[in-house]
Amino acid sequence: MHTILLTGGAGFIGSHLTRLFVKKYPQYKIVNLDKLTYAGNLENLRDIENEANYQFVKGDITDLDFLRKLFAAHQFTAVLHCAAESHVDRSITDPLAFITTNVLGTGSLLLAAKEAWAGDMENKIFYHISTDEVYGSLGAAGFFTEETAYDPRSPYSASKASSDHMVRAFYHTYKLPVKISNCSNNYGPFHFPEKLIPLCIHNIINNKPLPIYGKGENVRDWLYVEDHAAAIDVVFHNGKIGETYNIGGHNEWTNIDLVKELCRQMDEKLGKEKGTSEKLITYVTDRAGHDLRYAIDATKLKEELGWIPSLQFEEGISKTIDWYLANSEWLTHVTSGDYQKYYNQQYHNQ
Ligand code: NAD
Ligand code: TYD
Repeated sequence: MHTILLTGGAGFIGSHLTRLFVKKYPQYKIVNLDKLTYAGNLENLRDIENEANYQFVKGDITDLDFLRKLFAAHQFTAVLHCAAESHVDRSITDPLAFITTNVLGTGSLLLAAKEAWAGDMENKIFYHISTDEVYGSLGAAGFFTEETAYDPRSPYSASKASSDHMVRAFYHTYKLPVKISNCSNNYGPFHFPEKLIPLCIHNIINNKPLPIYGKGENVRDWLYVEDHAAAIDVVFHNGKIGETYNIGGHNEWTNIDLVKELCRQMDEKLGKEKGTSEKLITYVTDRAGHDLRYAIDATKLKEELGWIPSLQFEEGISKTIDWYLANSEWLTHVTSGDYQKYYNQQYHNQ
């Protein structure tokens, strides 16, 4: 039995994780705490919002008094911490927002859990969801393991690295029962269209340029979001307290090859002549401090807990495109208003 505080459940990964836990564990109670920033959208959870074991609470993880009251009201036995500012480009224009939410917010959550669980840490779990970007940038060879030294290089990854360190500090100092996982780039349904894959799908649908930073040679290791949620489920239930697990797809793509694959599949699905969407590819100014390559070694997760990704990339991308094509209303809702302002600012000269 668990009563789980799941933060950031209205976001991309959080909504998939909420759905998985609400459906798979009807005996658990899941309380989704989300501030509903531009990235949080309750439309992501429409299919489970009336489930008896699910509750939504609007609130901010940086508000310690609010968190104390929430812990007192619900007697949580576990935290699944997904809430964060998550987009590297936004962290370059507004680093303080990332320090506030990712560092101060995680610190506040740790403190609230420590206070609520003082004297009885038995059967409690504080699970912190993190990223492979904390490890920095790889050259052409090698992989990130759990032992790779942290070397964050963007305000986003530095804020996530800080929060990871703080989680470990609470484990060593106060014996808070923590778990951490560091995952590679996710893709799939409900992904906000400021990130590369949903942005390109959106722009291909609307016949708009596909902005490729620099030469498009940067490499990311892509994992289908439901596979990430499944890995979190495995670590939550079977992972060891105090341990870190890397999660990745062994699925490396240069940005340009990935966007070309998207174009190929979308031409087919939209009945367009081969090569039509590729003509939209536009090389733009590179991201400042753009990390060259991320690649995860997920051997520990495979050997200790038996997790492997279920989907091949071409299949995952095909499912993802189909979802976006079938959910044009969702896309229209999230690409109006504030997003439009961000988009114009980010790409205005390019
Ligand atoms: P997202 O930006 O889609 O969602 C973040 C959610 O957090 C939103 O619902 C937002 O409203 C909420 N939130 C933001 N600030 C908050 C605050 N102060 N209080 C309460 N809620 C707040 O992010 P995502 O892509 O789903 O990422 C979720 C987590 O997974 C993050 O911690 C991220 O670092 C990590 N991660 C993401 C990826 C990826 O590829 N997206 C990969 C590895 C790890
Ligand atoms: P992104 O989806 O922002 O994830 P992250 O930076 O966290 O890996 O970007 C993925 C890659 O795509 C990254 O190398 C930056 C690049 N990119 C572009 O080339 N053009 C774009 O418009 C965006 C948003 C990203």
